[in-house]
Amino acid sequence: MLTGVGTSALCGLLPPTLAAAGSAGDGLGARAAAKGLKFGASFSTEELNKPYADRYAAIYAEDCRVLTSELEFKMYTLRPTADVLDFAPADKLLAVAEKDQQTVRGHTLVWNDALPDWVHRLGPGEVEHLLEAHIETVMERYRGRVTSWDVVNEPIGPWDKLPGNLRKGPYYSTFGESYIAKSFVIARKADPKAELVLNEAQTESDDDNGATFRSSLLGLLKRLKDSGAPIDTVGLQSHIDTARPYDFARFADFVREIVALGYGVAITELDVNDRALDSTPNLRDAAVAKIYKNFLAAVLPIREIKTLTLWQLADHTSWLWYDAVAKGNPGGRLPRPLLYDASFKKKSAWYAVAEALDAMPAR
Ligand code: G3I
Repeated sequence: MLTGVGTSALCGLLPPTLAAAGSAGDGLGARAAAKGLKFGASFSTEELNKPYADRYAAIYAEDCRVLTSELEFKMYTLRPTADVLDFAPADKLLAVAEKDQQTVRGHTLVWNDALPDWVHRLGPGEVEHLLEAHIETVMERYRGRVTSWDVVNEPIGPWDKLPGNLRKGPYYSTFGESYIAKSFVIARKADPKAELVLNEAQTESDDDNGATFRSSLLGLLKRLKDSGAPIDTVGLQSHIDTARPYDFARFADFVREIVALGYGVAITELDVNDRALDSTPNLRDAAVAKIYKNFLAAVLPIREIKTLTLWQLADHTSWLWYDAVAKGNPGGRLPRPLLYDASFKKKSAWYAVAEALDAMPAR
């Protein structure tokens, strides 16, 4: 046992596994907070039903200052049928976060996905009522407790061939593009102090798909600015996929373009899909760690980024892992996209993120 010497004095001397495996004070959340950045990850209360629930909760307590709801605030969870409002999963998430003094990002109020079937059968008048009632009811219930909301998620969907490359769905069918501004106006009124976020996917890759998402999102953000929509922050999900090409410096320029329009920016769902890295787990982990390092080195110097959240922390709780298992694990190997492995051991990526946070400029 070490006595008489503060552990911080020993940090540079200990092997990384010992230096970093400690209390929340050594965790990623504390390192980020020291620079004015809020760090966290998505959290699923479904993982609390698993045999590893305690270890799952422990890594969040150690590393996260903010939790994003992965399923709890989605429409199919909150409103499984037209006459049921089920707040139990969301309340459970809030209880976890409040116990560990973490803030909560509510994901998400208005999305054309994760809708229960009954919503697809509504007529336009009913959709209008639902949009207003849903945002008001949910935000007012958690006013002052959920401090940031993904009000509108993934409005862009070029495959639907709509004007502005917007994604189709019941809200677009009812209002056209104005459903987006309208949602933010309702949200501002429901909780004037909450951070209101427009969250978007697929803007990161250096290919035609990424370019289409970037230009479509910039166009939308300019129109929303002109219309006076009360949007504080643009969330860029950042699901990095090794099957696609990247130029993170160019992506950082895109982030600066959003900042120049007058928005804050958050990185909201960072993970690294390792499907195109065909080597041993150790080599794959090293390559994934390098991608985290390079991505964060490009974006964290941008001081308008005040929040960084990953999509889960441990490999076996990732949507990519669940997806692979559901498909019978066709590649014969399970994904390793996150900071902890399936036995909750810190991976190289954890240390890469820790170093990036230590090296970044303060906000
Ligand atoms: O837990 C149930 C399980 O009991 C059941 O047997 C099984 C059968 O389908 O479903 C399980 O629930 C699934 C859940 O993931 C947990 O694995 C849901 O069907 C499935 O819809 C759900 O998918 C989520 C998806 O969003 C849709 O809501 C993923 O967890 C979640 O990671 C993913 O997150 C999205 C963000 O919201 C938006 N950005 C992209 C991101 C990744 O796709």
